[in-house]
Amino acid sequence: MKNRREFVQTALAGAAGLAFSRCAGISAAAAQGFDSRVEILLDESIGSISPDLYGHFTEHLGGTIYDGVWVGPKSKVPNTGGIRNELVDQMRKIKAPVVRYPGGCFADSYDWRDGIGPFEKRPRRTNFWIEAENDKSPASHKYEPNEFGTNEFVRFCKLIGAEPYLAANVRSLPASEFYRWVEYCNSPAGSTTLAEERAKAGSAQPYNVRYWGVGNESWGCGGNFTPQEYAAEFRRYSAWVPHYGRSLSLIASGPNSDDWNWTRGFFEEMVRKGPSQFSTIYGWALHHYAWNLSRGRTADWEKGKGEAIQFDPVDWYEILREGERVEGLILGHWQVMGEFDREHRVKIVVDEWGPWYRPGSEATPGDILEQSPTLRDAVFSAMTLDIFNRHAGKLHMANCAQLINCLNSLYLAHEDRFVVTPVGHVFEMYAGHQGGASLRTSFSAPSVQYDRDGKPAAFWGLNGSASLHGKDLLVTVVNPHTTQARETEVAIRGGSANSAMAVTLSHADIHARNTFDNRESVIPQKKASVVRNGIVAHTFPAASVTALSIRLT
Ligand code: AHR
Repeated sequence: MKNRREFVQTALAGAAGLAFSRCAGISAAAAQGFDSRVEILLDESIGSISPDLYGHFTEHLGGTIYDGVWVGPKSKVPNTGGIRNELVDQMRKIKAPVVRYPGGCFADSYDWRDGIGPFEKRPRRTNFWIEAENDKSPASHKYEPNEFGTNEFVRFCKLIGAEPYLAANVRSLPASEFYRWVEYCNSPAGSTTLAEERAKAGSAQPYNVRYWGVGNESWGCGGNFTPQEYAAEFRRYSAWVPHYGRSLSLIASGPNSDDWNWTRGFFEEMVRKGPSQFSTIYGWALHHYAWNLSRGRTADWEKGKGEAIQFDPVDWYEILREGERVEGLILGHWQVMGEFDREHRVKIVVDEWGPWYRPGSEATPGDILEQSPTLRDAVFSAMTLDIFNRHAGKLHMANCAQLINCLNSLYLAHEDRFVVTPVGHVFEMYAGHQGGASLRTSFSAPSVQYDRDGKPAAFWGLNGSASLHGKDLLVTVVNPHTTQARETEVAIRGGSANSAMAVTLSHADIHARNTFDNRESVIPQKKASVVRNGIVAHTFPAASVTALSIRLT
C-alpha cells in the first residue's frame, strides 16, 4: 500500500463547510416559491481577504514550465522574451497576486545558480521527476535545461503583476546558498558581486522578493525530516537572513493534510527557544490534495485515485467531500498552532491544493501529472476558494496546484495551442473577492441525498462566501447537486440590494470540459438577476458556480 510520500519516493526509486440547517428562514422563503435562502450579514466581517489567497504554483514538472510558461524567445508561439503571451494575458485578467516557484519537490533538488547567467553556459541537470517521466516525455522534462530560472521567473511575475514566492532548497543545499539566493535577488544595485551578476541579466535594481519558502514537504521529498529536526533546520536557515531593508516573509514547510503530529512537533520544538521564535515565521504551509475516490476501500496512493474525465455522480460528490476536508484541516491545524503560538502570529498558507486523478487524461501525451479539468473541478475549486474566504483571518496565502499543464490547471497549452479550463474561469469569476472584507453568510438549502455504495449519503445543498468593497457585494455560490437547480432568495441583513448581476459557470453535462479543439464548451454566462424589495431572487442551476455582483443601495 502506497501513500503520497511513498509515491514520490517510488518515483525517485524507479517507477466543514458551514454546517447548514433547515432554519426558520427557509419556511418563509418557501411560501414565495423559494427552496433555499442565502443571508449575508453585512455587519459581521470575518477579516480582510488577502489577495494572495488567489495565488498560483509553477514547478519544473512535466509541461508546466517548458511548453506551459516558457516557449523560448525564438519560438513561433507569440511570446515576450520567451514567456507565452496568451498565458500572460489570461493571468492579468484574473489579477494573479503571487506565484510559487520552482517547486514542489523539485525545489529541494534545485541549485538556483544553474538557472542564472548566459543561457549557453547554463548546465543541463537531471530533473527531480525523471523517474516518473515516460517515453513520450520530451527531453527538457527529464533533463532540466535551465533555460528558465530566477530572472525569467521574476520577469514572468512582473509581466503578470504578481509577487514571486521562491521555495529554497533545504534538503540538498547549505543555508549559505539560501542567503546567497536572497542576496542575488534583493541586494541593492552595485552592492555585491551577485547584484552585479543580476545587473548583467538585465536588472540592476533588486527584485525585492518578499516571500521565501524554507523547503517544501520537509516531511517527505524535502528531506525526510522529523518535525523536530525540521524545526532546527528552519531556525538555522532563517537566522540572520539578510533583509536589505525589506522584511522577508518566511514560510515554513507544514503538514500533509491531517498530519497533526507534524504541526505539533514543529511548534513544540520552536517554542522551546521561546515564543519570539514565532515572529520569524510568516506562514505555515499546509498541503492538501483530494485524491482518494475509493470511498473508504483503500488508502493506497495509486489504487485510491479516480478518473479525471470519466466518472459517475458518486465520484463527483466524493471528490467534493475529499476537497472540503481542507476546511477541517485549517481549523484543526489552527488549533494546534494556537496551543504554542498563543497570539497566532503565524498564519496558514495552503500552498498546494487541488484534486489529483490517475494518469490518462493528458491534453499532451508525455506531460506527467497533467489532467484535463472538467466542470467538476471548477465546482471543486470554487468550493475551495469559498472556504479560504470564510477563513480569511487565519490564512495569508493559498496556491492552486498547479497553474498550467499540471493537476488542477487553470490553463492547458501545447506549442501554439492554448485553452482556459473551467478552473481558470472560476479564478476570473472570483477575482473580485481579493482585498474585500469577508462577510459571515449563512446558506440554507435542501441537502443533496445520494447513494454511496448502498448507503444513503448527504452533502450540503448550497454553500459559498461573500465579500464587500464599499457598496459592492460579491457573493459566490456553489450548487453541487448534479441535477437539481435551487430557487433562492439572497437577503442582506443590515442592507439591501439595488441591482444584481450574475455570472454562472455550468453545463448540462457534468463531464464538460474545454479542449484545444473545443475551447468554449464551459464558459461563464452573464445575466441580470431580479431584485425585489432589496432581496435578490436567483436560480442557481444544477452543478454550477455563480458569482453574484450586488450593488447595495
Ligand atoms: O504538485 C505536485 C507535487 O505534489 C509537488 O511537487 C509536491 O510538493 C507535492 O507532493
